[in-house]
Amino acid sequence: MERTVAGVASATVITNAGDDPADGWFPESVAAGYDAPGGANEPAVVTPVVDVLDDLADGPVLEFAVGTGRIAAPLAARGVRVSGIELSRAMAARIAGKPGGAAVEVTIGDMTTTRVPGEFSLVYLVFNTISNVTTQDGQVDVFRNAAAHLRPGGLFLVEVGLPDLRRLPPGQDTVPFTVAPGAHGGGYVGFDQYDVVTQQFTSNHVTVSPDGTGQFRRIPFRYAWPAEMDLMARIAGMSLKFRWADWDRSGLTAGSTRHVSVWETDPSAA
Ligand SMILES: C[S@@+](CC[C@H](N)C(=O)[O-])C[C@H]1O[C@@H](n2cnc3c(N)ncnc32)[C@H](O)[C@@H]1O
Repeated sequence: MERTVAGVASATVITNAGDDPADGWFPESVAAGYDAPGGANEPAVVTPVVDVLDDLADGPVLEFAVGTGRIAAPLAARGVRVSGIELSRAMAARIAGKPGGAAVEVTIGDMTTTRVPGEFSLVYLVFNTISNVTTQDGQVDVFRNAAAHLRPGGLFLVEVGLPDLRRLPPGQDTVPFTVAPGAHGGGYVGFDQYDVVTQQFTSNHVTVSPDGTGQFRRIPFRYAWPAEMDLMARIAGMSLKFRWADWDRSGLTAGSTRHVSVWETDPSAA
């Protein structure tokens, strides 16, 4: 059985029958609801992302953690040659059925290590997914693997939320992001819980049905500040080219809630 909370695709409520553990946090029961209308699937969200990627692409591109092709399929539909790496077979199985999706070349694997053939003008990793890699070494490996796929002067783009630490008073480790009572009882509560010592955090999704039964889904992440990512990029032989607060390319401010950063490999390295 499955339900989604309106506008919150990541809060899909699951039972685990039929899920393959190899699909990690995005097995069949999550993949089945991932493309539900609303939230991150709205054209108003997707189109600005695809616009920027289309503009940066200057040849074939590679999406790390391509998921169900939410971004890759519409980008391919514009004529960009898109490849993808994805851990979850259940998520990847949805790509080919979307407009443009049949042209996306998908490899099942881990973005920290998996290599795909070819040399790319742009590697991109969106929708907070760098944080799904929960160790610093693993995140460095993502940067290294991106650089290994890029031609000289190629670009690596990451979109990720900034940790909400400014909303943590002393002694508190939890920041709610959604509290939504249901119209007929029950409801949904979402919150992040931070460990500021280890930079580990969890996103927590509690969904309660009108009959009082419910589910608690808890997903582990690791946060890193933009400056730490700049060092990861440097370790991988890249340097910062752009840093934006959003897909509208506005500048990062103290009030920004996420960043879109683009690093470049050395254009002169042949
Ligand atoms: C939030 S979804 C984002 C999917 C897609 N990029 C999008 O924007 O809709 C995160 C995806 O990352 C995948 N993922 C998580 N860790 C991964 C890893 N180490 N290697 C490859 N894929 C991974 C998950 O299976 C899931 O499909």
